[in-house]
Amino acid sequence: MPLHPTHPALADDYTPPPLIQAYRGRRPSTASGADYTPVWFMRQAGRSLPEYRELRVGTDMLDTCLNPELASEITLQPVRRHGVDAGIFFSDIVIPVKLAGVGVSIVAGRGPVLEHPVRTAADVAALPPLDPGALAPIREAVALTVAQLGATPLIGFAGAPYTLASYLVEGGPSKEQLKTRALMHSDPAAWESLLTWCADITGAFLTAQIEAGASAGQLFDSWAGSLSLADYTERVAPFSARALDPVRGLGVPLVHFGVGTGELLAAMRGIGVDAVGVDWRLPLDEAARRVGPGFTLQGNIDPALLQAPWRVLEAHIDDVLRRGRAARAHVVNLGHGVPPDTDPAVLTRIVEHVHAHA
Ligand code: CP3
Repeated sequence: MPLHPTHPALADDYTPPPLIQAYRGRRPSTASGADYTPVWFMRQAGRSLPEYRELRVGTDMLDTCLNPELASEITLQPVRRHGVDAGIFFSDIVIPVKLAGVGVSIVAGRGPVLEHPVRTAADVAALPPLDPGALAPIREAVALTVAQLGATPLIGFAGAPYTLASYLVEGGPSKEQLKTRALMHSDPAAWESLLTWCADITGAFLTAQIEAGASAGQLFDSWAGSLSLADYTERVAPFSARALDPVRGLGVPLVHFGVGTGELLAAMRGIGVDAVGVDWRLPLDEAARRVGPGFTLQGNIDPALLQAPWRVLEAHIDDVLRRGRAARAHVVNLGHGVPPDTDPAVLTRIVEHVHAHA
């Protein structure tokens, strides 16, 4: 489907906001000509905000994601509070799994847990298709959000097939994904079917958000850092590319992010994206050398330093900004999500500092 007629990019007076300019490779500037580096935070919506904790009392996480009014309000909370350059749609990578009819819930402090892990070729063959109509609450929540965001763009997101598959196979969060990586090699045909299923449902989830109003899309391959370069390149990346295929014609920039992926960055760039997210382990100037000149970098404040005294954090942010100049353009973010015990005032101060000192 094409973009919905109310999509911001279709308005007569549309000029791309700083975030979108940066993803496309232009370094934005202010009206007075000063450099301006856009900033947002992965997991900016969530438990670090008292207004989020208040709204969530007594409501299940995935039910909250599927309630358009609640999902929209929670998406807007960090934009209002911090003045970030984007909202990221409040949802979860397992929402398309749930909407396909697979039993999954989110256990607080742990993460997604499957009713029945997917371990065999027969389990994979039994995975149901996702009815596109089931994505209606997602489209509705995005449309509600974009109508209130004004000039601030909304980022849509989805889990990459490997990260999604790891939850299905392990049955829950797992540090090294041993069962998942064993299946990849023991039954390549089942692996291909499983990753194809994941790519198609996660691609449909991202497409729904972009058609309904999101101005960029980010694919999260949070656990790809467990993979060898060979496994990543041959058995994972083609499916990540497949997940993005349905959105390529929609004209919005795409971002690819994973944790611990220093050795994979060049391959992650290769699935056809505009920007690559970098975790805190690799300095951005070295990341720029590894991904090459045609890509924007996003990152990579160490989330641990959110707990440090401001002068320590400030010096770190300035170092991140300085190294980020090695890329064609830079979007400031953390190297992974906001930890739940973060003082939100620190996040607001980072936004002010980045906007004043680009
Ligand atoms: O602000 C945002 O970034 C948007 C919302 C968002 C959530 N999950 C909300 C959420 C996004 C982009 C995600 C993506 C997601 N979900 C990823 C990829 C990003 C990453 O962190 O690597 C992954 C791996 C998941 C799976 C998942 N869902 C985990 C590991 C958890 C945390 C469990 C916990 O309690 O620590 C969740 C639950 C979840 N997703 C929460 C939020 C705000 C916490 C739920 C709560 O409030 O109790």
